[in-house]
Amino acid sequence: MKDTNCRLDLPYPEAAAEKEDPALSERLSALYAGRYGELSALTGYVYQHLILKDKYSYIADTLECLSITEMKHFELLGKLIVSLGGDPLIAETDRRRLYYWNGSYAESATRLDKIIADDIKGEKRAVADYTAFMNYCDDASVNAVIERIIKDEEHHIKILSDIYSEIKGDRR
Ligand SMILES: [Fe+2]
Repeated sequence: MKDTNCRLDLPYPEAAAEKEDPALSERLSALYAGRYGELSALTGYVYQHLILKDKYSYIADTLECLSITEMKHFELLGKLIVSLGGDPLIAETDRRRLYYWNGSYAESATRLDKIIADDIKGEKRAVADYTAFMNYCDDASVNAVIERIIKDEEHHIKILSDIYSEIKGDRR
C-alpha cells in the first residue's frame, strides 16, 4: 500500500504558531511524545507490521502505511513545538520535569484481532485528545494543523474498522 493511501488527499497547513507560547508547547508535548502520542503510535504500528508480515502481509503493509502517516504527524507537532518556542525533545514536558519517551509505550497485543481492536481504540483516543487540545488552544494556526491531523486519524479509524470487519467476516 502506498503511504499516500493512509492520509487524506488534502494539504497540511504550515506548521507555524502565530506566537511563542511555552505553556501551549508543553501541552502539545504529550501529543507528540507522551505515552499515547504520535511517537508511540508510529513505533507501535512498525512493531505490529514486523510481527504480522509473514502471516498477514496485506494487513502488515497497511500498518506500515499508517505508521508513515503518524511519522508525518510527529514531525508536524515537533515543528509546532519549535515555533511555540519549545524544545522538541523526545519527551513529555511540564514546568517541573521531563518524562522521556519510553519503548514500553509502543507495546502491543500480538493476536491479530486484538491488535486491530486496540489500534481502533488508540485512533479514537487520539481524536479525543486532539479535540480536547483544540478546545484549550486559541492559536488559530496551531489549530488548523491539529484539525488536519484529526482528519487523517478519522480516516485511519475507517481503514482499521474495515480490516476488523474483514477479519471477523473470515471466521464466519
Ligand atoms: Fe497521528
